[in-house]
Amino acid sequence: PALQALLCRMPKAELHIHIEGSLEPELIFALAQRNGVALPYANVEALRAAYAFTDLQSFLDIYYAGASVLLHEQDFHDMAWAYFQRAAADHVVHAELFFDPQTHTERGVAMGTVVQGLVSACERAQRELGVSSALILCFLRHLSEEAAFETLEAALPYRQHFTGVGLDSSERGHPPEKFARVFARCRELGLHVVAHAGEEGPPAYIESALDVLKVERIDHGVRCVESPALVQRLAALRMPLTVCPLSNVKLCVYRTMAEHQLPALLAAGLCATVNSDDPAYFGGYINQNFVETFAALPQLGRDHAYTLARNSFQASFVPAETKQRWV
Ligand code: ADE
Ligand code: ZN
Repeated sequence: PALQALLCRMPKAELHIHIEGSLEPELIFALAQRNGVALPYANVEALRAAYAFTDLQSFLDIYYAGASVLLHEQDFHDMAWAYFQRAAADHVVHAELFFDPQTHTERGVAMGTVVQGLVSACERAQRELGVSSALILCFLRHLSEEAAFETLEAALPYRQHFTGVGLDSSERGHPPEKFARVFARCRELGLHVVAHAGEEGPPAYIESALDVLKVERIDHGVRCVESPALVQRLAALRMPLTVCPLSNVKLCVYRTMAEHQLPALLAAGLCATVNSDDPAYFGGYINQNFVETFAALPQLGRDHAYTLARNSFQASFVPAETKQRWV
């Protein structure tokens, strides 16, 4: 109970949240009605009942269907604002939000609609909640590098509104090196670079994210434990890993939370952080991730809680002066 209170109340940064993954079933249905979009589910309960995933792809199919209700700037604003209110309640003081523009532009939604709706929610979060934030544009890795280049081009008029780029969607069969050239271009543009790697994919994908994409953080990365040499390298680099425990259990990366490798990652000296990934789909927001992880893994205690909070600020893309205030 004292540990739980510490986990919930400590100030923290969230670095791995797909904003489309924060769309709760109630908001999906409200937006479907507002926009006249037909859903293949009768009601909120039927939709929630479909949230029984066997792997990453089984989740992504439903996640992209849910995002189909987002059409107007106000929709993107409402989605992100709902997230910020929940994040603030969890004592998140800084959040870096992934967004997937291709999920929307492929349906005819303009890039500016997506970005401006999210930006206005970010500004409101700073003003009304005191939560700072940044946006990270993710390329969908199941699509081509050419499509990623087109997405980057369409986003350049909004360059000042996003701090970096990431790589998400179906990992297996879509290694980081598929996006070598577009990431090189992003680095030239001064964008921060991150990538999902080692969630379902092998440790070799983490290595190519480092060597080819030259990422500054690895999203998930939990499969690094299969390669002791890679764990050593990540620790020596102090390369952040944005770990998402509830996601890993819901997507069957681990059978149970008791089998999660977060304790091993911390014991190896890795800069691991705890995050929510797609909280509307995986059973909870960031504090739920902390509480369930620590409850299932009794070897985690107060020192680990402080370390994880400190890591979250150190791994963030805020200016060094701001970090010093936080850690
Ligand atoms: N898109 C949303 N959530 C994701 C995840 N956990 N892995 C890859 N792509 C995603
Ligand atoms: Zn993710």
